[in-house]
Amino acid sequence: MKNNEAELVLDADARAQIYIAGIDSRRVFPAQSALDALSAFDESLPEHGTSESTTIALLDEVGSPATVATNGPRYFGFVVGAALPVAAAAERLMLAWDNGAGTSMTAPASAAIEEVAGKWILDILDLPRESAVGFGTSASVCSLTCLTAARRALLIRAGWNPDENGVFGAPEIRVVISEKSHITILKALRVLGFGASRLLVAPVDEFGRIDPARMPLLDERTILCLQAGEVNTGEFDPFSEIIPKARAAGAWVHIDGAFGLWARVSEKLRHYTAGCEDADSWTVDGHKWLNTPYDCAMAICRDATSLAETLNSDAVYASGSINAQKNLTLDFSRRARGVPVWAALRTLGRKGVAEMVEQHCSQASRLAETLRAEGFEVINRVVLNQVLVRGETDAETQAVQAWAHNSGEVWFGMSSWGGKAAFRLSLSSWRTSDDDVARLASVLIAARHSFRLRELG
Ligand SMILES: Cc1ncc(COP(=O)(O)O)c(C=O)c1O
Repeated sequence: MKNNEAELVLDADARAQIYIAGIDSRRVFPAQSALDALSAFDESLPEHGTSESTTIALLDEVGSPATVATNGPRYFGFVVGAALPVAAAAERLMLAWDNGAGTSMTAPASAAIEEVAGKWILDILDLPRESAVGFGTSASVCSLTCLTAARRALLIRAGWNPDENGVFGAPEIRVVISEKSHITILKALRVLGFGASRLLVAPVDEFGRIDPARMPLLDERTILCLQAGEVNTGEFDPFSEIIPKARAAGAWVHIDGAFGLWARVSEKLRHYTAGCEDADSWTVDGHKWLNTPYDCAMAICRDATSLAETLNSDAVYASGSINAQKNLTLDFSRRARGVPVWAALRTLGRKGVAEMVEQHCSQASRLAETLRAEGFEVINRVVLNQVLVRGETDAETQAVQAWAHNSGEVWFGMSSWGGKAAFRLSLSSWRTSDDDVARLASVLIAARHSFRLRELG
């Protein structure tokens, strides 16, 4: 097996290079024939194993054609960035290390790099420098991480030791969410035992921001979940109006900034996030707007000790320092997700990240103007990189999306706003050029034209 290792890695790398080289010209969503061919994976478990080279060949020859080109320039769904080459290359090298990056004992290089990456994240996002940064798999998991720390801290303040006594019979913790909180916040809360009917919902304004005047009561037993970057509109809750009051009341404020927190890197956009630095915890993704590969996100907690105690997994045979990643994330064995973050930040620098974010926001604004001029309804104000669009009717909106997807040229997701169908166009890939955005606009215009011709009969 050893003799084949170099050959195998070279083969996989060569195939990856071919895939990347063709990313611009492949269908964004795979053709039906490629999806049908996936049945080739439906083999029985081999009794004696098969050759390594045919395994990689099958993965590439059947798998690659059935992938979605999220790593390409015309994928406009889910606020998903492509992978920056340097971040992907750093991951590639890390795979060769194969270190379980829980502590510096198991992964000294990763631990040193993740410590720097954590400091850089606090610096570039201008969040309290004393905070702990746990590198987790996703904003979903990082919000779960932060909310677990939040509940524990509030219970301890209330004189209850949850580490010893658990949560059954504990003082009641109230949770206030936004009417527009992301579904993964609800999921995290559900996992923590806060069922939907227990959540207090703060109403939002027409833009999807919490209306401070209608905020439910906040007290020292409340976790308040705010949002930087509403998933449809890209809007921000009014942090500077809400957070000082919440903190004065003793509440714990968590901000889900999966993509929107990156607005802080830009002089032009930072004002939307003003006051968010006063929260207690934050979630931000790497795999969205920083354009690292999946799985990459950060759980940031102002009270570093609190996060480290909440997630402590020191064992007699594996103890770590307060900033060991196994004590800041849900994992014990883990890949060093901070390494691609470090690679991305080191090569882009503060200015490079700001330029990328600003470019996407300008592309979004121009796209919105073009679509409005063509008679589409652009529902949101386009403060960030999200353009929420609908046609004249739900049927037209859905038909435009289906036509665009069938064209293979672009992909984007559907949503609804005010009870009506809408599609969400997210600008977040470093590969997306102005030409790609123009091509998206042309596809949408052609799609609507085709729908109208069909309607006419
Ligand atoms: C505002 C917001 N929060 C959380 C998430 C979940 O992020 P992840 O997919 O990294 O779990 C998303 C994903 O789109 C999001 O837009």
